[in-house]
Amino acid sequence: MSPGGGAASPGGRAFTRRTHTCGELRAEHASQRVTLNGWIHTTRDHAHFVFADLRDRYGLTQIFFGDAIANLLAEAKTLRPEDVVAVTGTVRARPAENVNAERATGAVELIVDALEILNRAKTPPFEIRDDAKISEEVRLKYRYLDLRRPSMQRNLLFRHRFMQAIRDDFTKQDFIEVETPFLTKATPEGAREYFVPSRLYPGHCYALPQSPQIFKQLLMVAGYDKYFQIARCMRDEDLRADRQPEFTQLDLEMSFPDEELIYETVESAIVHAVKVTLGIGLPRPFRRITHAESMLRYGCDKPDLRNQLVISDLSAEAKSSEFKIFRGAVDAGGALRALRVPGGEALSRKEIEGLEGKAKELGAKGLAWTKLDATGKPAGGVAKGLEDGAGKAMLARLCAAPGDLLLFVADRVKVVCAALDTVRRALGERFGGVRKGVLEPCWVVEFPLFEFDEEAHHFVAAHHPFTTPIEQYEGQITKEPGAVKARAYDLVMNGWELGSGSIRIHDRALQERVFTAVGVAPEVAERKFGFMLGAFDYGAPPHGGIGIGLDRLIALLLEQDNIREVIAFPKTATATCLMTGAPTLADERATRDLKLRFELPPT
Ligand code: AMO
Repeated sequence: MSPGGGAASPGGRAFTRRTHTCGELRAEHASQRVTLNGWIHTTRDHAHFVFADLRDRYGLTQIFFGDAIANLLAEAKTLRPEDVVAVTGTVRARPAENVNAERATGAVELIVDALEILNRAKTPPFEIRDDAKISEEVRLKYRYLDLRRPSMQRNLLFRHRFMQAIRDDFTKQDFIEVETPFLTKATPEGAREYFVPSRLYPGHCYALPQSPQIFKQLLMVAGYDKYFQIARCMRDEDLRADRQPEFTQLDLEMSFPDEELIYETVESAIVHAVKVTLGIGLPRPFRRITHAESMLRYGCDKPDLRNQLVISDLSAEAKSSEFKIFRGAVDAGGALRALRVPGGEALSRKEIEGLEGKAKELGAKGLAWTKLDATGKPAGGVAKGLEDGAGKAMLARLCAAPGDLLLFVADRVKVVCAALDTVRRALGERFGGVRKGVLEPCWVVEFPLFEFDEEAHHFVAAHHPFTTPIEQYEGQITKEPGAVKARAYDLVMNGWELGSGSIRIHDRALQERVFTAVGVAPEVAERKFGFMLGAFDYGAPPHGGIGIGLDRLIALLLEQDNIREVIAFPKTATATCLMTGAPTLADERATRDLKLRFELPPT
C-alpha cells in the first residue's frame, strides 16, 4: 500500500492506512512520505501553524500543520485530544537544537499535507498521561481510557511478553497446554464458589472452577505427563490488593515427580521469563526454608528474604524470668519472641507506639521494647525486666549490641507470629536492607497437612485434601492431625505468596483416611469427588504440581502494589465492574427460563 493511497477497510469507509507507527520514525526516515494513524495527544496552536503530538501504543510523534495547503490549518485547529486521525506527509529531521532526546521519535517531525479525521472524541474525563491524578473509581469506570495511559500499556505488554516466555519454556520442557472446563463441579480450594444455574436441569448449577485442580489430576491419569495451562480461576472470596474474584494461574501438573523435579521445572520457566522480560538473572536453585523455620524466623509462611531482620524465640529463657509478662505467656502455653533491630535506637517513642498499634491490631496485648545504650546495656522500656539472669540470657541469644532496638511479643504463638511479622515488614526498608528491584524467591516447604479451623472446630486441609502427607507422619493422620507434615510447598517472593502446590495422593485408601481426618464423610467424598477417586482405580501415576498466581507474579515484577494494575478489566474491592455495571439484576426472561426466584432483603 503506497502512502496516502486511500486504502478502504473492508466494509468500512476509506481511510489512509498507516505506513509506520507513532513510535517508529527516526532521522533516517527524513524526506520519506509516510502515513500515521493514531490519537491526538496534545495540540499547540501558534496561529500560523499547529503542532500536535500523535499517539498510539508504540509512542508519540510530533506532527506539524502549516498554512501552505488550503483548509489544512483550519481543520487542524479543530483537533482536540483523543480525536482519531490519519495524517500523511513528509518526515523532516529536526534541527539539532530542536531534537527531543527524551522521545524515541524526537529527532523528527512529520510535515502533514493530508489530514483525515476518522473520529471525534468527547472531552475525556482525564488526560491520557501517567502523572494525571485520577481516582480509582474514574479509572475503572473509563478503563478503556485508563488503558491508553503509557504505564498501563507497559503493564499489559509486559504481561503478554511474560506469558509468551513462560509458554516457550514449558513447551521446550515438553509440556502441553490443555484447556479445562469453566462449567464444572465444585473444586476443592476451599473458597466460596460462583455458581451458574442450569436451564436444562432446573435447580442444578455448574460451579465455576476455583482452579483446574481436579482436571489436571485427571490429565495425569489420562497419561499427559506434563500439563500446563494459563488458566482463569474464579473464587467468591473477600478481596484484597492481591486478590480478585477472577484471576489467572500458571497451573501445572507432572507425573512421576518428586518435589525437586517440580522446583527445577518451575524455576526454569520463571528464571527464563524474568530474564527475557526484565533482563534480570535470578540465581538458581531458589532458597528452601521449612514452614516451621519460616514461622519462627519471619513470623509468617511468606517471608521477605530481602529483609535481614530476624525473629528469635526466647521462650526457654522466659520460663525462668522474673518479669511476669514474659513468663506468664510462656506458662500459659504461648511464646516469647523478639525482633532485634540493629540501629533501631534511632526510632522515636512515637514511632515505636505506631508499631505497637499495628501489633495490637493483630491481637497482641502490647509490644515491649528496650534500646541498648553505647555500653550495650538495656535502657528504657522493659530494660528492668531484662536485668535478671533470664534477661541476660535473652540478650545473649539475641546477640544484642549497642544501638539495637529490641521488640518483644509474649502471647499465643499465632499472635506472636502475626504481630512480629507485621513489625518486621514495617521496619524492612529502614533497618532490614529491603531494596526495590531486588527479587528474593524461595520455596517454603513441609507445610502442615492440616490446620485447625477455629470457627468450624475441626481440622481442615491446609492446602487441599489431595495433598500427600510426608511418609513418616502417615500414622498420625487421625491420631494427631496437627503434627502431620505434608509434601506441600509454596513459591514465595519478596513477602508475597506466589504459588502453592503439592505431591498428590494417588492411593484411594490414603485419600479416604485424609478425608476422614478433615471430617468429610465417605458418602460426601463420593458425591463430591467420586468421579475422581474412581479414575484413580484405573492406574493413577504418582503426580504433583503447583498453581502460581500469575497476576501476583507480574504485579511483583512490575513493582505494583495491587494486582488490578496488571489486569486489563479488573473488579473493584467489592467485586463489581464499574465499567459494565456488573453484576446486574437478573434478567426476567432468564430467571423464568432458569426457574429461579430471588428472595431479596427489603431495600
Ligand atoms: P491456591 O489456592 O493456593 O492453590 O492458589 C494458587 C495461587 O493462586 C493465587 N491466588 C490468587 N490470585 C489472585 N486472586 C485470588 N483470589 C487468588 N487466589 C489464589 C495465589 C496462590 O498462591 N489448585 C491449587 C494449586 C495446586 O495444588 O497445584 C491452588 O489453586 O498466588
